[in-house]
Amino acid sequence: MRKPLVAGNWKMNGTSASNQSLLAEILASAADFSDVDVAIFPPAVYVHQVQQALTGTGLHWGTQNVSSYIDGAYTGEVSAAMISDFDCEYTLIGHSERRCLYDELDLDQLVLDQLVAEKYEMAASSGLTPIICIGESPQEHDQGQTEEVVVRLLDTLLAYQGAKALSRTVLAYEPVWAIGTGKSASPEWAQNVHQFMRERVAKHCPKTAENLRILYGGSVKGNNAASLFSKPDIDGGLIGGASLIADEFVAICRAAAKQI
Ligand code: 13P
Repeated sequence: MRKPLVAGNWKMNGTSASNQSLLAEILASAADFSDVDVAIFPPAVYVHQVQQALTGTGLHWGTQNVSSYIDGAYTGEVSAAMISDFDCEYTLIGHSERRCLYDELDLDQLVLDQLVAEKYEMAASSGLTPIICIGESPQEHDQGQTEEVVVRLLDTLLAYQGAKALSRTVLAYEPVWAIGTGKSASPEWAQNVHQFMRERVAKHCPKTAENLRILYGGSVKGNNAASLFSKPDIDGGLIGGASLIADEFVAICRAAAKQI
């Protein structure tokens, strides 16, 4: 049985004061989260604040990105070792909002996928659990290329590390057309893609595939979380906007806990 994971990606939002009250409100309901892993992903400058607030509470935290380099002259980057230094357990890798920024540098998709694989390697070697984001753009969606997009990244990862390495990894299916649009993928659509991803990994290692947590992200709210999480291959969510509203986020965590 896979334990669900609900990850709150705060993106570039918050202040010390607003973080403090949001965390306090979430913690007030933490007793309801015993059957679900809950993790918070603040902007890097607030990781220390989150660490201080969540240490000893049973909740987890991580970063929204990690450098593909160990250390050195990489202005503005944050290394995997630095992230571990603040007791982070997780890091997001390859979020579409990061990929778009890289795209401005004219990297093609295959190079981007390789970059994700390099970041993956860096995170895993520092003991972090990478949450790797995968999802098709609106254009790719309209052209029926979802499976192609998903396979391309999965195969790049499998080629770099082999299937066994995915045993310490979480995948997040985040269709770009559903992010921040209020238009979530239907539970049926998401289930089909998640099942496809699991089957792809199973071809390499059935045991890893069985244990692999695959999250859904894209306009998950308190009122659609339960129907998404009721699907057999949806093991929780990666939550953006709703993770900034305590009541919404708590409702999503409760919905995930009920699926046990
Ligand atoms: P929304 O939940 O705001 O659609 O964002 C999803 C997301 O990008 C989480 O990483």
